[in-house]
Amino acid sequence: MPGPGAYMISEEEKKALIEVIETGSLFRYGDKSDPKFLAKVWQLEQDVSKYLKIPYTVAVNSGTMALWIALGALGIGPGDEVIVPGYTFIASITSIIFARAVPVLAEIDESLTLDPEDVKRKITPRTRAIMLVHMLGNPGRIDEIKDISQKNDLYLVEDCAQAFGATYKGKKVGHFGDFGTYSFNIFKTITAGDGGMVGTKDKGLYERAFAIHDQGHLPLRQGVERGSRTVLGLDCRMTELAAAVLLAQLEKADGMKKMLKEKKKRFKEGISDIKGLSYRAIPDPEGELSTLLTLFLPDENTARKVGDELGCGVVADSGWHVYNNMEHVLEKKVVDSTGCPYTCPYYKDKGGSMEYSSGMLPKTDALIGRAINISIGVFDVGLGSGFGITVTSDNNEIDEKIEKFRKAVGKYI
Ligand SMILES: Cc1ncc(COP(=O)(O)O)c(C=O)c1O
Repeated sequence: MPGPGAYMISEEEKKALIEVIETGSLFRYGDKSDPKFLAKVWQLEQDVSKYLKIPYTVAVNSGTMALWIALGALGIGPGDEVIVPGYTFIASITSIIFARAVPVLAEIDESLTLDPEDVKRKITPRTRAIMLVHMLGNPGRIDEIKDISQKNDLYLVEDCAQAFGATYKGKKVGHFGDFGTYSFNIFKTITAGDGGMVGTKDKGLYERAFAIHDQGHLPLRQGVERGSRTVLGLDCRMTELAAAVLLAQLEKADGMKKMLKEKKKRFKEGISDIKGLSYRAIPDPEGELSTLLTLFLPDENTARKVGDELGCGVVADSGWHVYNNMEHVLEKKVVDSTGCPYTCPYYKDKGGSMEYSSGMLPKTDALIGRAINISIGVFDVGLGSGFGITVTSDNNEIDEKIEKFRKAVGKYI
């Protein structure tokens, strides 16, 4: 089921992991003069910074915490509104809630990322930030969204969890906002099972993010220090084990991107003559990761039939990637395992008047109701991509899947 990185795990990751285990130094901090301390987390931060061309990064334990840290470092808190798409993994929304701010759900457009026109409509005097999610391996409409954020004096956070290594106009995603955040969970470009990263060009923001990720400490601390810390933090640290695996995976990132691009091209060419299909808009086709091929059927009824035939359903059904399916975000009563009905308390907090309901984003619903995700490199039922190929599929397998797709579509259009 996983993403491309997981399929590429082999001797390099094993060697890196054993090397760390043999030293016994599994914690991110250590004595630099001790040869047994390999400083893998620190090295990962340096190498990812270089790869992304983003000067400051903090390695953390998940993409969710990376988002929460970014919001905290920007000082976003109670009563502040953050505009976020209704089509994204639930973590984008929950990170805002756990920053005690108010998520303001906005529409997506044919790119399946934030619709700039709706973002403009959703701005209020309480808005502090826009969270642009680069969904399904593709950069969103960065120029338009950045322009809106600048004109309205709003922070821009790029949620790059699904797009590590994707580029927009030649620059890696995460470069454009105040923060870029990344995930290294099992479905992502590179993986250590779990893990995340925060990236910024601003030294002050970096120091705040670092402090929040580790009990208020300053970067590069050696052991336990006391001093005049001004920031409270929690523990979102990455271990040396995860960093060792990720360093090996990072070496493979560009190669994977190339392989995915070739496989996607072959798949798309194999179905390009089918009338009635249209494709997701891609703001920068050069820079996409090619982890998925997303297409639109003419209407929802046809899309559902084709999705059922292929076993992947439509994108609207892809679990907690769609606001309509987030029963704990929509303000309706949920019965927990003890039989006790509850509503999440945060929504009444400060911002007060925000309401969430099923069907509140009709443009989004209409688009994802007739969209199908074909896996090129992320085979994930939860993402609606339970049909397709993987980064290791050969031409025979690709052609077989193309045939299967053609047959399914041929029955209905
Ligand atoms: C768009 C998006 N944001 C955030 C996250 C959270 O990342 P993690 O699972 O590493 O916490 C994910 C993970 O699936 C995601 O897809």
